[in-house]
Amino acid sequence: MARAHNFCAGPCTLPQSVIEELADELPDFEGAGMSLIEMSHRDPVYDRVHHDTIATLRRLCTVPDDVSILLLQGGATLQFAMLPMNLLGSGRVGAYSVTGSWGKKAKADADTIASTAVAWDGADDGYRSMPLAEDLDIPDDARYLHVTSNETIGGIRLPRFYDLPVRQVADMSSDYLTRPIPWERFDVVYGGAQKNIGPAGLAVVFVRNSVLDEIPATVPSYLSYATHAGSDSLANTPPVFAIWATGKMLAWIEANGGVAAMERLAAERSSMVYDAIDDSGGFYRSPVAVTDRSHTNVVFRLPSEELEARFLAEAEEAGLVNLKGHRSVGGIRASIYNALPTESVTALVDHMAAFAAGNG
Ligand SMILES: Cc1ncc(COP(=O)(O)O)c(C=O)c1O
Repeated sequence: MARAHNFCAGPCTLPQSVIEELADELPDFEGAGMSLIEMSHRDPVYDRVHHDTIATLRRLCTVPDDVSILLLQGGATLQFAMLPMNLLGSGRVGAYSVTGSWGKKAKADADTIASTAVAWDGADDGYRSMPLAEDLDIPDDARYLHVTSNETIGGIRLPRFYDLPVRQVADMSSDYLTRPIPWERFDVVYGGAQKNIGPAGLAVVFVRNSVLDEIPATVPSYLSYATHAGSDSLANTPPVFAIWATGKMLAWIEANGGVAAMERLAAERSSMVYDAIDDSGGFYRSPVAVTDRSHTNVVFRLPSEELEARFLAEAEEAGLVNLKGHRSVGGIRASIYNALPTESVTALVDHMAAFAAGNG
């Protein structure tokens, strides 16, 4: 079977070897006479898969001992509400750096639960850049600063994490496992798995254990980080398939050099596309600040929407799919996550060169 060059923003390409292993092992898991997804999540066989996935995450991300790793459902979206429920008890304030669609959604959900403050909002500039530390206006009594380290739709990333007196929390849905995390600055880091680390159905949440002591008693059990930290994410039935597949993807990342290698790859492969944009004599245009260009979601425009439609149609004919920008912003978006083969990026820049030559 010919694999498509799949630039989907999520769910996205997984390594072919992982897909094949899953298919191969699915019908009869380790001779159990049933698949893993038919087995009790209390079975020692599943228990090993579950704890292996957590242990690999801890190793790969060098997660300190005082940070718990939670495997949850509800995607990153549930965290928009769960985070303030757990951290903003007793009238505390959450400060939000609103850097695009996802930061905006995170704050909107927090607003339904607790007091928030806008530390920065890039709306006036069309969310083209990330604020510098000195641009942030954080109330003295803020419990945390929330950042979206990579805005998947707008195509901007924080080039460096902030070093601030306030505790930070981060939505890293589209860039964890592509860069190291300075854990000492963060109380919570969260994200959906379906971009850089596995299939949809799983959210990974890293929570500093000291946070567990401040969770209001009124938080319902599934929504409390303490429930999951205290049960190794086995308080209820976990998303077993997603955890199993993520464990395989993490093993693949480890075998391919770990986070340092993924970080290098993300920088190199996104540069291939940015170079194609910058070398096109203005035919392709990047709408975002050069310093804040995303390493995982490269967005660009062509001279007209008509040309963009043709670019996408011809790309699809050449096997390059899911390049359409998010419906809220239009244009083109190439999502280049960990498992996307470099040949796919080469095929994209070749298509860009040929299309510009034929239509410029
Ligand atoms: C940065 C960011 N945050 C949150 C989400 C929402 O994630 P989920 O679909 O897992 O709820 C996405 C999805 O694309 C995202 O890119």
